[in-house]
Amino acid sequence: MDLQLKDKVVVVTGASKGIGLALADAFAREGAHVVAGSRSITPELEALQKNHGVTAVPVDLSTEDGPDMLVRSAVGQYGRVDVLVNNLGSATARPSFLDIDDGEWQRVFNLTLFSAVRASRAVLPHLLEAGGGAIVNISSINARLPFPTVVDYSAAKAGLTSLTKSLSEEFAPRGIRVNAIAPGPVRTPFWTAPGGFADATAAQSGTTAQEAMDVIVPQSMGISTGRVTEAHEVADLTLFLASPLAGNITGAEFTIDGGQVKAL
Ligand SMILES: NC(=O)c1ccc[n+]([C@@H]2O[C@H](COP(=O)([O-])OP(=O)(O)OC[C@H]3O[C@@H](n4cnc5c(N)ncnc54)[C@H](OP(=O)(O)O)[C@@H]3O)[C@@H](O)[C@H]2O)c1
Repeated sequence: MDLQLKDKVVVVTGASKGIGLALADAFAREGAHVVAGSRSITPELEALQKNHGVTAVPVDLSTEDGPDMLVRSAVGQYGRVDVLVNNLGSATARPSFLDIDDGEWQRVFNLTLFSAVRASRAVLPHLLEAGGGAIVNISSINARLPFPTVVDYSAAKAGLTSLTKSLSEEFAPRGIRVNAIAPGPVRTPFWTAPGGFADATAAQSGTTAQEAMDVIVPQSMGISTGRVTEAHEVADLTLFLASPLAGNITGAEFTIDGGQVKAL
């Protein structure tokens, strides 16, 4: 299937590892010009830069001007932007809502919601100037489910899903589609990095991090397929939503969770 993404200019936030890296890789393989933002340039992102012409921009996207700087890099290099993927987001588990002070709420909202607000505000004038485009927001099933240990992250993701809907309504008449993807657990450094959620789950269940990801997480979270999602699967769905093939899809949220969410 030709996704018609060749030569499109695509900005991806949080792209040095995990889903963002898979996104940069997948868009680049479709022939898109990818501008990838993250604080560090990992060896994997560097390889994409060398072998697939991805532009890696070192930037802290939790700051007020970071997202604008990333969009300006893309426009400076290619003269336009066609697609924005707001992928950046981060959660820290704490025992209770009562353990999260204002500073932490602000930090998590800056990373998970305001980075997307700011990147969207920076990119929309360019999409309008180009006569259309697409924004895909990587939200989470947490936007709808109660996960008390990451209540701030879940609230920020609910905000991102809401932002998706409002932006889609305002900009659809001018050719801009805005959609969201809500993944369940995805095998990325978010889980698998030392001290990450896989280690925490392994410690609780007296097993290894690998066993936690492959068996304990799918079982304990009720993932019907019996496995977590892989990063490239989220990337594949994102590419479709960014593609002109999804030309009449906007304001929608797509769950990719192996059947974890049971409600209709
Ligand atoms: N993994 C899951 O189970 C899961 C499930 C549902 C939704 N999601 C969502 O999917 C998205 C990607 O998650 P992931 O699991 O791929 O995350 P990840 O493995 O933790 O990767 C996060 C990425 O964001 C970058 N980043 C972090 N802080 C940054 C900052 N201040 N400025 C710029 N870049 C920054 C990191 O690079 P640097 O450290 O180099 O900056 C890295 O490239 C997030 O929005 C997450 O909420 C993930």
